[in-house]
Amino acid sequence: MQERRARWAKTLGVSAVEVDAALAEAGLTIADAERLSEQVVGVHGLPLGLVVGLPLDGAAHVVPMAIEEPSVVAAANHGAKMARAAQNVGFRSTSMGGVMTAQIHLQNAGEVLTAADESQVREAADASVPNLVARGGGARDLRVRRLAPDLVCVELDVDCQEAMGANLTDTVAEAVAPVLAKVLGGEVVMAILTNLCAGRRTRVELAVPEAAVGGAHVASRIALASRIAALDPARACTHNKGVLNGIEAVAVATGNDWRAVSAGAHAWAASTGAYQPLATWTHADETLYGVLELPLALGVVGGARRLHRAAALAARPLTRRVLEAEATAVGLACNLAALRALVDEGIQRGHMKLAKRGQP
Ligand code: MEV
Repeated sequence: MQERRARWAKTLGVSAVEVDAALAEAGLTIADAERLSEQVVGVHGLPLGLVVGLPLDGAAHVVPMAIEEPSVVAAANHGAKMARAAQNVGFRSTSMGGVMTAQIHLQNAGEVLTAADESQVREAADASVPNLVARGGGARDLRVRRLAPDLVCVELDVDCQEAMGANLTDTVAEAVAPVLAKVLGGEVVMAILTNLCAGRRTRVELAVPEAAVGGAHVASRIALASRIAALDPARACTHNKGVLNGIEAVAVATGNDWRAVSAGAHAWAASTGAYQPLATWTHADETLYGVLELPLALGVVGGARRLHRAAALAARPLTRRVLEAEATAVGLACNLAALRALVDEGIQRGHMKLAKRGQP
């Protein structure tokens, strides 16, 4: 444990003493827990583990995961190990930037916004988040959709820069709602962000030599498992659960809203009308190709991290963009390891060996 902590401290650029202090009392003192939430009776602990040597965009990353299921941290590390065989960069990430979307639903309203209306809405939006505007963020695209003869939805994109952005987007939504009611008529029903933040997607790709996953036969069966998930929503659900095992454990470790992550991921998976696998695999030219893309809003400052010392430490050296890329790469690593086990020896052998660890 001490060796692992020392290695993590080095990655984080802090002393081992600082790591020990942040992780004391499960990373959250009872006094801080009382400040963080309501009706508090204690602090609920989870094991905090590490993915070591995750190859991402040409560098080796150490990524924390908070999760009770032992096989998930093992799967992430196994996936990272297989990905290290992808010579050049390992996982390769691309990101759309920090845009969230505010939704304002109105009843009995019009749907035509003039240029003057639009600038009034944007002005109200920017005036509600002056610090964000000073940092280069603020109101962006504006769309109006008619949902039903009596219902309209106005969507306003908000560039949240380095923030996770939920609070900022909710603030903007509430600030522009009365302006919209004035220019479109009708009545505001509600104003809040959407967790389907389609303008804030992270994509991670991996091209791994088939030999690294057990040879041509196993690689083609991993691609077959991906095809099955695309044909069968019940299998896609479990396939995506394996992806989210990794992403949500990183979200929890870094003090992020993992419910927002899962809501956005499942809505994205169903966005074509048929529930689809988030991660897909193909096999060609002696190489296994994997892609995972999903909406993902994580933060590295503020929020629970103000009081949760372990989460603040875990998120400390990162930018939002790097954390989102790391979490997505861990999700693809977990999926690769799960499929590798499923199409070969079966999940129970390795999984159950680990699951039995905690039993008396
Ligand atoms: C278990 O936590 C996750 C798996 O079920 C994922 C999958 O089936 O792909 C093993």
